[in-house]
Amino acid sequence: MAVSPSSDVTRMRLDPEAIAAVDRSDMLADVVGLPEHLRDALWKIESADLQPWDSPGGLVVAGMGGSAVGGALARAMLGDHASRPLLASRQYGLPAWTTPDTTILCASYSGDTEETLACYEAAGALGATRVAVTSGGRLAELARADGVPVIPVAGGFQPRAAVAYMTVAALEVAWLCGAGPRMGAEIDVAADHLEQLVIAWGAASAEDSEAKTLARALYDSVPVIAGSGLTTPIAYRWKTQFNENAKMPAFTHELPELCHNEVVGWQEAPALGRFAAVFLDDSDTHPRVKRRIALTRELIGEQATGSFVAETRGHTAVERVLSLVLLGDLVSLYAAVLRGTDPTPVDVLVTLKQRLAGDA
Ligand code: F6R
Repeated sequence: MAVSPSSDVTRMRLDPEAIAAVDRSDMLADVVGLPEHLRDALWKIESADLQPWDSPGGLVVAGMGGSAVGGALARAMLGDHASRPLLASRQYGLPAWTTPDTTILCASYSGDTEETLACYEAAGALGATRVAVTSGGRLAELARADGVPVIPVAGGFQPRAAVAYMTVAALEVAWLCGAGPRMGAEIDVAADHLEQLVIAWGAASAEDSEAKTLARALYDSVPVIAGSGLTTPIAYRWKTQFNENAKMPAFTHELPELCHNEVVGWQEAPALGRFAAVFLDDSDTHPRVKRRIALTRELIGEQATGSFVAETRGHTAVERVLSLVLLGDLVSLYAAVLRGTDPTPVDVLVTLKQRLAGDA
């Protein structure tokens, strides 16, 4: 049976004190630390002192969950400036087309994710150039023993909170291996831009700031999040942040494809539960996709508990992507607070990993 919204919760304040009462491990500090993490990530990569090399086969970022998303976001940021294939791969193995000419960036915050370790081995067997980005674990051990460069990541985060580190590592390795231009200056500018957005949407922002308003609109529905082009991987980041921070089911799809199937599925939505639609838009979205967003919102308006558009902010692709990453991270964190659930722990995920480890 669908649970209806409680107006008490909807009216609940989202001020620093109310947030801290639920956000017991202070995930908020890590979310609003995004600008600082970007600068630290650049510095950490610089101090790893990697020299450029040529990878005609492009770059595969092999990782899972919060560690893989950096590869997908980096791909969106590079857009048409990517001169070689760049793919985030979330599998036990490498894509079939991978050759010794491909660089494999093995991204694992913990360094102990079995899928990523399998890719590390597979890349070694293939003779491909490997780089690791990690805070430690087995991946750091293996890489050091094999003489594979390790880009360090600051410790003490939930992997998903290290998104800036993983994204910057993917961008920098893309540049180093010849898959794209250097984005260091854009990253610095984006960090300054994000500081303004932290003020606009952070804990001390107005109760009707965009982040708090969206959280109030979404915390008691299943968010169905749509992206297109540059916003497609951001939609996936929103979904996973709703899953892990707010412990809510959430789903994602992309335009224009969803206009050919998902739009029909909304017909029976009210009979099944509470579903809200979120469309992530960008200044560069294809005009026909913008038209499709407007029409889809009109056509599903009666079936959704609400339909919302969130737009990227900023000029460069790096700024625009990160602006919506920050917004989604904050919205999901505020949704967790409204649901009274601590955003940080991911107990089921830990249990699953432990049970898998027991099989070994
Ligand atoms: C937890 C999280 C997860 C992990 C994933 C892979 O905060 O975001 O999605 O990122 O389980 O683990 P790592 O990142 O340690 O390789």
